[in-house]
Amino acid sequence: MAGGNGASTSPFKVVSRKSLLLFFTMTSVLFFMSWFFVLRSTSHVQFIGSTLLPNSKLLSTFDDSKSRMQKPGVESSFGNRATPVDSEDVEVASEIKVVKQDGGKCNRNDGLVLKVFMYDLPPEFHFGLLDWKPSGNSVWPDVRSNIPGYPGGLNLQHSIEFWLTLDILASEFLNAPKAKTVIRVKNSSEADIIFVPFFSSLSYNRFAKGTSPGKKSRNKILQVKLVKYLTAQEEWKRSEGKDHLILAHHPNSMMDARMKLWPATFILSDFGRYPANIANVEKDVIAPYKHLITSYVNDNSDFDSRPTLLYFQGAIYRKDGGLARQELFYLLKGEKDVHFSFGSIQKDGIKKASEGMRASKFCLNIAGDTPSSNRLFDAIASHCVPVIISDAIELPYEDFIDYSEFCIFVRTSDAIKEDFLINFIRGIGKEEWTRMWNKLKEVEHFFEFHFPSKENDAVQMIWQAVARKVPAMRLKLNRSGRYSRSPPVMDKGLKSIPAPKNFW
Ligand SMILES: *[C@@H]1O[C@H](CO)[C@@H](O)[C@H](O)[C@H]1NC(C)=O
Ligand SMILES: *[C@@H]1O[C@H](CO)[C@@H](O)[C@H](O)[C@H]1NC(C)=O
Repeated sequence: MAGGNGASTSPFKVVSRKSLLLFFTMTSVLFFMSWFFVLRSTSHVQFIGSTLLPNSKLLSTFDDSKSRMQKPGVESSFGNRATPVDSEDVEVASEIKVVKQDGGKCNRNDGLVLKVFMYDLPPEFHFGLLDWKPSGNSVWPDVRSNIPGYPGGLNLQHSIEFWLTLDILASEFLNAPKAKTVIRVKNSSEADIIFVPFFSSLSYNRFAKGTSPGKKSRNKILQVKLVKYLTAQEEWKRSEGKDHLILAHHPNSMMDARMKLWPATFILSDFGRYPANIANVEKDVIAPYKHLITSYVNDNSDFDSRPTLLYFQGAIYRKDGGLARQELFYLLKGEKDVHFSFGSIQKDGIKKASEGMRASKFCLNIAGDTPSSNRLFDAIASHCVPVIISDAIELPYEDFIDYSEFCIFVRTSDAIKEDFLINFIRGIGKEEWTRMWNKLKEVEHFFEFHFPSKENDAVQMIWQAVARKVPAMRLKLNRSGRYSRSPPVMDKGLKSIPAPKNFW
């Protein structure tokens, strides 16, 4: 085209015209490319803005004091419940208040909405464990007016089941706060996941012990019933459980049923007591413990105003992975600014631990019976930089949060070398510590449980983590359905799925 002017044009002219065209084409390509990149990067910033750093103005619309209506009765039912009564119960009671409808202000998290089908399990599996009795036909309490209390004290650590179920129930109401990540759907074919509302941690905490020998505990009976119920459902048979979500946050919960329900996604605290083929990081979701220490609001402390360098409270002698505790105790007991105390945090222990953590720069989190414990989340809530010595720990939403920005990780084999840990910690200066302390204050809301849930609180972060598992679930489902047209060779019941040798 450039040389189309005929024979009269000199070779020189043709060349310059060609290069002009080339130049023009290249600049326009470059222009379009840069435009494209600008677009991409701004949408990226928007994404970060809406998920990582939620708008504080939006959050403040759910500020407890402004938008919540106190509901008499809820608090009193709480006060009666708690086994070891402590300050935490009061805190929880104040959290369980009914939201005042505020005209449906919208702050929905764009993109991630998880459609959940929840089985209408009989109350004995969920709110019945809280001594709630249904009135009328529904197996669920009306969360707008009546929320059964969850027992306080150490039970609360594993109360994830309670918060998630309440959040699903609340999603059904038109005036529910619109920060929802989750919506309940009644048609299971339309759901992303199938939720199994069994309060397994509570069932373990309250009903695993104290039965006469030879007699099955209520916790065991419920698990047997649950397996029987689930495996009879159309939804389970359709997927063999692959799109099911099961709660087992207490490491000892679902002890019997887990071996039969393994194709499902579990919500766990860690994988310490699970064989790798039954639970693993690809398939399952790690949820935080609910911290027992109250959040440190208006923290005006700094590096110098926290006198204790390193704080630890817990049992010193532990089996399994906990041997390092003993070693560390002997290594650190001579250090003047290190606090190493015995005993679990109960009753006034919570108050003491709270004061101790708020007065410390660093808080030790050493593996105990299990790789995880609520101590990490207590430390975060106290803005005490966690020092994690637990090689097999699993952390909530670690595909979303970089824990190394606000936690110190030390390998157990290093930590028990003489002087290694103390020198390492003493080597962290004011500037680096302050950076981590600031980061702790930025991330702490990811570990707070609320009802109604708030944008990017623990409840919604867990749902988002579940949502990120959904594509892998679908892939598994579609792959396992390849031969669904072949004539059946074995019965599709539970017996036909043996525990996998190598799940992945
Ligand atoms: C449930 O959803 C599926 C898929 O959208 C649809 O085919 C089916 O008719 C629905 N069932 C009911 C009872 O609405
Ligand atoms: C699996 O199949 C469904 C249709 O049944 C489809 O919507 C979905 O995208 C597929 N999932 C994957 C991961 O290919």
